[in-house]
Amino acid sequence: MVQQGVKNIIFLNRSLVAGEAQETFDEIRAMGATVTPDQGSASNRNDVKRALIITGLPIRGIVNSALVLRNKEFNRLTVEKIHATFAPKVEGNIYPHEECLALGHTLDFFVMLSPLTSLSHAATAVLLLGSELLHERVCLLPT
Ligand SMILES: NC(=O)c1ccc[n+]([C@@H]2O[C@H](COP(=O)([O-])OP(=O)(O)OC[C@H]3O[C@@H](n4cnc5c(N)ncnc54)[C@H](OP(=O)(O)O)[C@@H]3O)[C@@H](O)[C@H]2O)c1
Repeated sequence: MVQQGVKNIIFLNRSLVAGEAQETFDEIRAMGATVTPDQGSASNRNDVKRALIITGLPIRGIVNSALVLRNKEFNRLTVEKIHATFAPKVEGNIYPHEECLALGHTLDFFVMLSPLTSLSHAATAVLLLGSELLHERVCLLPT
């Protein structure tokens, strides 16, 4: 993305940036872009709100690559484990979408990464399509 001209990137994730992620940030900065890490969760509305205004710049695109895995046999899955897995894929898409609308950010793209077998992004897309809030074009591509 930086090679294609992106100048400013905000990274929202729950843990402190360290190790390989820090090295990646350094590489991106060496390419001339700014990187703003923000510690928080994509499935927490207040964290999303803060991340969207942290640089004061308009937001032009969102990539949701958040993933939580709680792999278990079906009969050992609990509601908590299912929610932990779905939250970054469902609320993690809905909150950025709604908060961008509220802030007046006009997005060029909103990418939702997910394995083909995951139904959660499809469910989110249906929810968004079912609402009158959908401004982005939704395109489901297998990864
Ligand atoms: N790896 C694959 O084979 C594969 C295949 C197809 C699709 N994908 C998709 O590609 C994306 C990235 O996969 P990956 O394998 O690179 O995953 P990963 O290494 O497990 O990284 C997932 C990241 O999501 C962050 N995260 C989790 N919950 C979050 C939340 N609520 N808010 C903000 N950040 C959160 C985690 O950081 P914190 O824990 O610090 O928040 C972590 O850095 C995912 O969307 C996945 O579904 C992966």
